[in-house]
Amino acid sequence: MGTSLRRAAFAMGLLAAAVPAAQAQSGDVARGRDLFESRCGGCHSLDENRVGPALGTVVGRAAGKKADFAYSAALAAAGHVWTPDKLQAWLTDPEALVPGQAMGYRLSEAVDRRDVVAFLQSLAAGQPVR
Ligand code: HEC
Repeated sequence: MGTSLRRAAFAMGLLAAAVPAAQAQSGDVARGRDLFESRCGGCHSLDENRVGPALGTVVGRAAGKKADFAYSAALAAAGHVWTPDKLQAWLTDPEALVPGQAMGYRLSEAVDRRDVVAFLQSLAAGQPVR
């Protein structure tokens, strides 16, 4: 292999390595939507309350304050707003964020949390991928 070919191969390797890094920043919205359906959909929908409250407008909403849902006393008193960071913390370990809460579920994979939160953010931004 000549020097220039080796350089080109090296550059392509760098490019391939850069793509996942870029996705790690923003999250994969379409994958997040599929995960939402498969992992959250048993208890949540976007526009109606089920076992858990509707989540279509959760980004930017005060925690435990959707008027027509019966929250645990702990979540109703939590006092934070659902930012992407708070959602990450909640999905990592809801009980650590809000002791006494009632959601018995978490997403153990960081990539799954990132993509689900990216999907919820896309709804807040008015750019749903549905
Ligand atoms: C086994 C049922 C169940 C599953 C699965 C589940 N949740 Fe929940 N979720 C709940 C319940 C119940 C609550 C209300 C908790 C409380 O009142 O303490 C809740 C609350 C929430 C809240 C707080 C909303 C608010 O209005 O304050 C968010 C955010 C949330 N869930 C996100 C998710 C996401 C994202 C997933 C999928 C990764 C998921 N949940 C999976 C049952 C579930």
